[in-house]
Amino acid sequence: MSKLKINQKISKHILPEWLDKLIINTLDQHFKISINETKVISESIVKLSRYYLENPLGKTPWEEPWCQLAHLCYFLPLNYLRNDSVFKKCQEVNPSFKSFRRLIDFGSGLSPTAWAFKELKELGEISNPNNNLNDNLNGNPHTCEILLMDHSKAPFALLNKMGLKYNQSALSHFNDSDFFKESLVTFSYSLTEFNENHFPPWIDRAENLLFIEPGTQDDGRRLLQLRKTLLAKGYSSLAPCTGDNECPLLLHSNSDWCHDRINIEMPEWYYEIEKFLPMKNSSLTFTYLYLSKTVTRFKNQNQEARIIGDPLYENGKIRQACCRNSDREFLSWLERDLAKKNNTDFFELPERGSLYSLSAVDNFELKGKQSQRELRIKN
Ligand SMILES: C[S@@+](CC[C@H](N)C(=O)[O-])C[C@H]1O[C@@H](n2cnc3c(N)ncnc32)[C@H](O)[C@@H]1O
Repeated sequence: MSKLKINQKISKHILPEWLDKLIINTLDQHFKISINETKVISESIVKLSRYYLENPLGKTPWEEPWCQLAHLCYFLPLNYLRNDSVFKKCQEVNPSFKSFRRLIDFGSGLSPTAWAFKELKELGEISNPNNNLNDNLNGNPHTCEILLMDHSKAPFALLNKMGLKYNQSALSHFNDSDFFKESLVTFSYSLTEFNENHFPPWIDRAENLLFIEPGTQDDGRRLLQLRKTLLAKGYSSLAPCTGDNECPLLLHSNSDWCHDRINIEMPEWYYEIEKFLPMKNSSLTFTYLYLSKTVTRFKNQNQEARIIGDPLYENGKIRQACCRNSDREFLSWLERDLAKKNNTDFFELPERGSLYSLSAVDNFELKGKQSQRELRIKN
């Protein structure tokens, strides 16, 4: 038999053509800048990235044209891809996820969240950015009310030019008893600008909450602490967690944090701009948390493990961090078992961020202690 080839499954997340065109048109019509003016655009991105680094809790300077330019050409498309991939994972654990009738995006900016939700709703249908999600709210399952909240007015002016139909939230709505029914409240890269003490006062009334934050150690561990607080308030964590158990990364480590990574494919113009940036993004990291008070998990949690790490190759053994309860666990395979059991010369390791079904495995063995447990897959 030829030597077994082992690869990890890696999907590519591609920026949709309609968003690519929308960015180019907005740049042209609103900023009178061509997408080929890579130097102006890249300087704006570097300036805003530096601003964020130097002012970790500073407010996005939306009134500055360079900030708008950087969001339009860089943070919007990248955060769109992050939101899009998270939505697909949420949809996997809650098949009704895309049926939410109201999206409330807090700290919306150019709302990559609303654009991505729109795409999710219209899955397999028209991807027309001018298609009005707010129309025909009653009756059409593909429609949804989009409510955006941001303390700056500047992104709204830009969104109007981009043709996103949304409502600006009126605080009086938040007292209606039915307001949060079938609603999803999202925070995408906005906790970076305020802390939990400045959460909107109505947050505890939200039935479904989704946070997407940078994949750094600080942001990741902070989100894990927030999870603890929200579980105590009656929420259930649906993704990436497979249960409401204490997080093994907080329990068994002072430094680890849960974060996801996706591979991306951007339009040509993006790579031209990236040539002038100190940071290159062939992949994107982020951390996320989807919680609900009303949705229940539809699968047996211990039978499903979330893949939370990349493969570690060690002397004939492969380990990959996974999570399904409070133990620090790794799926593991011995190469010699794989070569013996598989009638093929190719073996694919699970994708980072995906769910791995243990019920589909005939035979596995638990090894080691709770803080470093191996789930040795034998077939
Ligand atoms: C880093 S941007 C993220 C924008 C967008 N959600 C995204 O994913 O690209 C953070 C946003 O939060 C907004 N923001 C910060 N503090 C806020 C507050 N207290 N209330 C509402 N919006 C706030 C900022 O104006 C900014 O648009």
